[in-house]
Amino acid sequence: MDAYAVEMRNISKHYGGLWANRNINLQVKQGEVHAIVGENGAGKSTLMNILYGLITPDSGAILINGQEVKIASPRVAIDLGIGMVHQHFKLVPGFTVAENICLGMEPRQGLLVDREKMLAMTLKMSREFGLTIDPAARIKDLPVGILQRVEILKALGRGARILILDEPTAVLTPGETRELFNTIRKMAAQGKTIILITHKLKEVLAISQRVTILRQGCVAGNLVTRETNERELASLMVGKEVSFQAFPREEVKGATREVLRVDRLSVYDSFGVKKVKEVSFGVKSGEIVTIAGVEGNGQTELAEALAGLGEVAGGRIFVNDEEITSLQAVKRRERSLIFPRTG
Ligand SMILES: Nc1ncnc2c1ncn2[C@@H]1O[C@H](COP(=O)(O)OP(=O)(O)OP(=O)(O)O)[C@@H](O)[C@H]1O
Ligand SMILES: [Mg+2]
Repeated sequence: MDAYAVEMRNISKHYGGLWANRNINLQVKQGEVHAIVGENGAGKSTLMNILYGLITPDSGAILINGQEVKIASPRVAIDLGIGMVHQHFKLVPGFTVAENICLGMEPRQGLLVDREKMLAMTLKMSREFGLTIDPAARIKDLPVGILQRVEILKALGRGARILILDEPTAVLTPGETRELFNTIRKMAAQGKTIILITHKLKEVLAISQRVTILRQGCVAGNLVTRETNERELASLMVGKEVSFQAFPREEVKGATREVLRVDRLSVYDSFGVKKVKEVSFGVKSGEIVTIAGVEGNGQTELAEALAGLGEVAGGRIFVNDEEITSLQAVKRRERSLIFPRTG
């Protein structure tokens, strides 16, 4: 049998009394999409940061294509053909796509960077991997779906044959996610090995061939995807049976006074960009109201504006019919408008 593209043996890493990774064994075949799932804090990023040379494990061994290696830094990882796309992109906002992709390996003519060649190189790469981008566009002007494409190209351009994606869909719209999955399938068909960190079980089932489940720093399971299902994955992730039955939802009965009213509210973010544009809604007593949206679409700014922490650009907020739009946060708390921060 061929050696695994990636094999991690008995990897452990602790922080004080907490085991972020404990005796973890991971085996990833070449050309497969391998999902790593687990709840928040299960140790997924730690394990992948170890593979990418960002964290040194306390103990354990790593084998790439059957050869034991010491990955002391991302430089070593890249030389071994490992690439990683982090959840928070690491691109230079003022640079162009081509400048970011070629960073550190710019084609030169004498001492100067050969810009024409750099653009041509980027375009060639983009065609080769089927990832459409505009090499001359500036990073700061691009949507996240495209930025992720740039990150992937950057890794592939450095010769990645093993690509780690840490929660890549967290910042994507459903359409962008579908596109990313097409790209992943294409890369796998070209023989690349993909390790995908996620905690969305539907994604695991849609894209991976095998899945490793982590729980509290340990491996809770290792399964062939087509032989498992959402229920089994969820119970391995949390360590007990998980009910998928929807909670019964009932209309709120009795007193249904409107306690919060938001009227054409607009809010700036910390960069002065208008993130909430003329949003109106009301919340009745006893109700639970969900604000849904992909990260970065104004939810945080809306919540902060309600709490008195953001800069309101227009519109009004009422609590129990009293206007509070310009009240300080502490005054709002006195009126029982509480905003527990989640980090
Ligand atoms: N540098 C650090 N110092 C102390 N504790 C850490 C450090 N890095 C991670 N941890 C802890 O180790 C555990 C595993 O963290 P890790 O980031 O690997 O989890 P994760 O599975 O990626 O979670 P998430 O889904 O939230 O990204 C967590 O309890 C975390 O708080
Ligand atoms: Mg993580």
